[in-house]
Amino acid sequence: MTESFSQRYQFFDQHPELADFRADIIQGLSAPEPYILPKYFYDEAGSRLFEKICSTQEYYPTRTEVNIIRDNINDIVDVLGRDCLLIEPGSGDSYKVRLLLDALRPIAYLPIDISKRYLQDEAQKLAAEFTWLNVHAVCADFTGKLELPYHVTATNKVAFFPGSTIGNFLPQQAVTVLEEIRKMVGTDGGLLIGVDLQKESSILNAAYNDKEGYTEQFNKNLLVRINRKLGANFNVKQFKHLAFFNKEKHRIEMHLVSLRKQVVHIDNHIFQFEKDQSILTEYSHKYTVEHFEKLAEQAGFQRVKAWLDKDRLFSVHYLVSC
Ligand code: AVJ
Repeated sequence: MTESFSQRYQFFDQHPELADFRADIIQGLSAPEPYILPKYFYDEAGSRLFEKICSTQEYYPTRTEVNIIRDNINDIVDVLGRDCLLIEPGSGDSYKVRLLLDALRPIAYLPIDISKRYLQDEAQKLAAEFTWLNVHAVCADFTGKLELPYHVTATNKVAFFPGSTIGNFLPQQAVTVLEEIRKMVGTDGGLLIGVDLQKESSILNAAYNDKEGYTEQFNKNLLVRINRKLGANFNVKQFKHLAFFNKEKHRIEMHLVSLRKQVVHIDNHIFQFEKDQSILTEYSHKYTVEHFEKLAEQAGFQRVKAWLDKDRLFSVHYLVSC
């Protein structure tokens, strides 16, 4: 029996406060090495810009991961098992989950995203498209405590964490994020996770410096958002997009570099930037399969299987909580 849309679609609002955003921005910009947390990329405009990045020639992770999932779908569904509760932290446009749904037939899909309007739009589209699917959208910041909006027992819970979002965290923080996911899925719960791999610098540098300039816009949108939401007066033109692969630390670093000495206000806070001083906006760590599996083990996960593309650009892992 197919239930009506209103029975199948539910929305749970745990959206963080504007006050948290303000406090995080002020704390980050006041630090000796100023930073802005990458979760703040994803307002509605930023989420749309991220979609554009994913479609560029240079940004290989999205299409590579999609192909890995497509090429191994039977295998993946076999290990995940049918009738699970499928939870996706940082679901964005829910594009990749579409590859799984028909074969996997979960009892419900729970997208979790920080961008409220965007999540509502995307989750409703999905529920309209898959006329049998229960969609329980949760607006929340998954870098905090991960909690399901209701209590479920006796159901196989599987988290889906594609895109190498885990790369945003320092390796030790990544362990904490994985531990949170493990607590959420419980004993015997699973995690299907995408992890970007170490490779030649030229490929990595190009992926974060696309010619169309979407990554640059995505980076600078942080300042636009801070101006709009917090009434700041960043002169966006006086900051430059910088992204490069740091070989020693195995990570892409993204920065906004001040083109001259300048002063910015938020409320009664004054931030001074020297010429060439940078604001760190993102890390994107790149792993080897072995190193990632060690981190996962530290978080209490055991590897079941890993799938790679033939060029070994990207990996998808299935782990179970032990
Ligand atoms: C969504 C965090 C996986 O690190 O590659 C893309 C974000 N930043 N281009 C990444 C991003 C610049 C992306 N993640």
